[in-house]
Amino acid sequence: MAGRWRNDLNYSDVTPKQGFLNRRQLMAGGAALGGALAMGGIAGPALAGLGAKPSVYSTDAAPNALEDITNYCNFYEFGTGKDDPAKHAEKLTTDPWSVKIDGLVDRPGDYSFDDIMSGVELEERIYRFRCVEAWSMVVPWVGFELADLLARVGVRSEAKYVGFETLVRPAEMWAQNRAILDWPYREGLRLDEAMHPLTILATGLYDEPLPKQNGAPLRLVVPWKYGFKSIKSIVRITLSADQPPTSWNMANGREYGFYSNVNPQVDHPRWSQASERLVGGGLFAKRVPTLMFNGYEDEVAGLYDGMNLSRSF
Ligand code: MTE
Repeated sequence: MAGRWRNDLNYSDVTPKQGFLNRRQLMAGGAALGGALAMGGIAGPALAGLGAKPSVYSTDAAPNALEDITNYCNFYEFGTGKDDPAKHAEKLTTDPWSVKIDGLVDRPGDYSFDDIMSGVELEERIYRFRCVEAWSMVVPWVGFELADLLARVGVRSEAKYVGFETLVRPAEMWAQNRAILDWPYREGLRLDEAMHPLTILATGLYDEPLPKQNGAPLRLVVPWKYGFKSIKSIVRITLSADQPPTSWNMANGREYGFYSNVNPQVDHPRWSQASERLVGGGLFAKRVPTLMFNGYEDEVAGLYDGMNLSRSF
């Protein structure tokens, strides 16, 4: 694979994250540093980590700080401000959790989070993440390939698409009392996109369980598409023959296509997609050019052979 990828490092080798460095120093120091641990305010169980394996699919770009990833979020069920999810997502009950898998599958059912995780080998995937609003981050996700789960439930040959839904629970997600979107938040992929090895279900980041504001306990991550395709806190996965309705496309189909592949040549009707602002780069940070398919062109361009990418955007 091209030199941009490497399989021998994980975020601990490249991260600038101060909190993580502290933790690593603490781990190195072991029990002798117990006092410092208490003073540092890092909870004991957090040291356990998820033990995710590094992956050939990780970029060698430096991940954003955990503080950026967890405080600059889009999760409209908790409000439209970037800091709303961090403020309000704690209210969400994520245990117990179950996911209905239905439609064109051999083994439909309600799967508990534990069922889904049983036997799964977690990998760390350090991915570029590009929001349609033209900001970006690098995120050290932990998760597993969606294809693994789909293989376990058995996809029937008539299935061509996969639809996803976030839970509806206005008592815990206050902004679902407002008509910001037609809840539940819905997303979808073509089956071949869903089966692509870059497409993961993330259950963690920075080797810890996923923070609620980032979509606990289980969210999709599709790194070559705009961030809104990466639906959070999934409770339903449906295999279908027809293209499923998706939230942003329903809200404004002229601005948000079903595919929404990152494409610097196809501007949003209201702004350019040619460049992006890397979150955490400071107020005067230079914008960087946006890459075709968010830099994953070698891996995914073949999925769209023969398609007009400005028409099927
Ligand atoms: N999923 C749900 N359920 N609700 C949302 O509002 N926002 C999307 C996506 N998934 C969203 C969602 C958008 S616009 C982006 S950019 C990413 O989540 C943001 O993910 P992050 O906050 O973990 O960076």
